[in-house]
Amino acid sequence: MTFGQRIARFTTDVVVRWPRLWGVFRGLTRRQFDAIAPRWNTMRMPDSLAPFEAALAAVGEAPTRVLDLGTGTGAGARIVAERFPDAEVVGADLSERMLAEARQSLPAELEGRVRFEPADASALPYEDGSFELVTLANMIPFFDELARVVAPGGSVVFAFSGGAGTPIYVAPGRLRSELERRGFTDFAEFQAGRGTSFLARKPDRV
Ligand SMILES: C[S@@+](CC[C@H](N)C(=O)[O-])C[C@H]1O[C@@H](n2cnc3c(N)ncnc32)[C@H](O)[C@@H]1O
Repeated sequence: MTFGQRIARFTTDVVVRWPRLWGVFRGLTRRQFDAIAPRWNTMRMPDSLAPFEAALAAVGEAPTRVLDLGTGTGAGARIVAERFPDAEVVGADLSERMLAEARQSLPAELEGRVRFEPADASALPYEDGSFELVTLANMIPFFDELARVVAPGGSVVFAFSGGAGTPIYVAPGRLRSELERRGFTDFAEFQAGRGTSFLARKPDRV
C-alpha cells in the first residue's frame, strides 16, 4: 500500500471503532480525495466494481430511491441507475472535485435520474428512511446514519474492490455485528473479481 492508502486504512479502522473521532480525519480525507479526483478513474481496475454488481444482483425488490455514499467519480451510481431503470439515484460525496468528475462522466440519458451532491456520511442531509437502497463502494461506513436513512424493508450494500487488501476495508464480521445491533437481517456475502461485498436488509416496520 502507498502512504496515502495506509492513511486511508488507519482512518477507516479508527473511525469504524470510534465514529466520534471522524472530525480529526475529515479535512485530511477530503483533501486527499480532492487531490486524486482527476486521476481516480485511471487508478481503478476494470473489474473494480464486480463485487458491487454481484451484491446488487441479489437485492430483492427493485428500489426506486437509491443513495450511493462516497460515490467518488460516480461509477457506482451509474451502475445502480442502469440496473434499476425506475430508480432515482443520488451520489453523495465529501469531495467537491470527485463530484465534479462524477457530473462530467454522467451520460446524457441518466441526467434526469442521477444527481450528485455534497454530503458527509457522518451527518447526512436526508430524512429518516429516505432510501430503499444505500450502497457504499470502498467507503468508510457510519452505521448510525446509514441505518437511519435506509427505509424499512430496504437494503444496504458494501463492496471492497480488492477484498481484505482494499485500503478502505471493513471485515464482514464487523459489518454484521454493527448492522445486527441496529436491527438489520438477511446477511449475504459475495466474491467477484478481486473483491468482496456484503448485503443486508432492514426489516419492514412491525
Ligand atoms: C475510495 S473512494 C471510492 C469512490 C467510489 N465509491 C469508487 O469505489 O470508485 C472513497 C470516496 O468516499 C468519499 N468519502 C470519504 N469519507 C466520506 C464521508 N464521510 N462522506 C462522504 N464521502 C466520503 C471520498 O471523498 C471518496 O470520493
